[in-house]
Amino acid sequence: MPKIEGMINAKSNKNDEFYTQYEDIQKEVNAYLEYNPDVFKGKTILLPCDDPEWSNFTKFFAQNFERFGLKKLISTSYAYESKKISEPYQLTFFETESPKYDENKTKSHGKIFILDKDINNSGKIDIEDLQWDYLDGDGDFKSEEVKKLRDEADIIITNPPFSLFREFLKWIMEAKKQFLIIGNINCITYKEVFPLIKENDIWLGNGMGRWISGFIVPEGYELYGSEARIDENGNRIVATNNCLWLTNLEHGRRHQPLQLMTMEDNIKYSKHKQIREEKYPKYDNYDAIDVPYTDAIPSDYEGIMGVPITFLDKYNPEQFEILGHTYSGDTNEAVEKIRLDPQKRNRGLVNGKQKYDRILIIKK
Ligand SMILES: C[S@@+](CC[C@H](N)C(=O)[O-])C[C@H]1O[C@@H](n2cnc3c(N)ncnc32)[C@H](O)[C@@H]1O
Repeated sequence: MPKIEGMINAKSNKNDEFYTQYEDIQKEVNAYLEYNPDVFKGKTILLPCDDPEWSNFTKFFAQNFERFGLKKLISTSYAYESKKISEPYQLTFFETESPKYDENKTKSHGKIFILDKDINNSGKIDIEDLQWDYLDGDGDFKSEEVKKLRDEADIIITNPPFSLFREFLKWIMEAKKQFLIIGNINCITYKEVFPLIKENDIWLGNGMGRWISGFIVPEGYELYGSEARIDENGNRIVATNNCLWLTNLEHGRRHQPLQLMTMEDNIKYSKHKQIREEKYPKYDNYDAIDVPYTDAIPSDYEGIMGVPITFLDKYNPEQFEILGHTYSGDTNEAVEKIRLDPQKRNRGLVNGKQKYDRILIIKK
């Protein structure tokens, strides 16, 4: 695949311009295949935010189309609308030529690429030159045209625009599809996301933070952080450490129990000074103890515990139950029951000092 060149579209949201690396997709997808080698067999996959000319998702799934036994692969991309045609069109990150416009020159068209087992059964797929076409519309995932493709698909996979994350997940869930997508760690606490995690309808993928090694960013985007680099193809990579995979596809890691020490041992031997010194204080406003580190969760505590949101990366639904989180809007019965002060509905307070947002869990 050629070096990725281009500039940020003036109309696009800068934070939406983080592009996924091939190796990160491969690493994550392999974990589902290890758990179930037939996870993609006979399935139709839609990649709805993926330009067939450059997306590594498109490249990866096209390359592995036969090995995974896929029925159909559909990859579509979005063309930012250019209402004022007098304004010179700025190419999106990867575009090398202006997009196709319709007759009255107000709307550009998204792209579509399809691999179909029944049509492309002759085999040979040229990954460097995927033959794509234009959509009728702009490729917005909310458009009727892309919705139809969604409805046809079994699994939706992509790194969606961060600014539309909530809407995007809703779009998947309302169609009751399987999915594997990238999001920001903060998305865990969104009111549109957390209840789904709590009910075990969706969960984290195989890793968060450094598990995703970085994203390709456009030229002109500052290469911040000590791990920022330029790869062998000249792509500019930023290591973010604040992203995760979200999914409802099974993987083995979420069924592995977290190895923990008893409360007594933690207080004696924990590597965290805070645990040894402060032990496990109770919140002023919740009938629960504060556990500031996931690896310091006491294995023998029977009551409710407030744990960091990164606990979800280690969450095994057979080991713990999630009751809610320390958020004023959480009206779950189990959380309402342990609120000690109706005036202090917000995050947990310890001796009047507010803690970070915590997930409230109980041992099963
Ligand atoms: C974070 S980038 C990731 C791109 C690609 N999926 C990847 O992982 O490399 C998000 C992409 O979503 C596209 N996008 C933005 N708004 C969209 C919309 N309403 N419908 C579909 N795609 C959209 C952007 O053009 C951008 O390419």
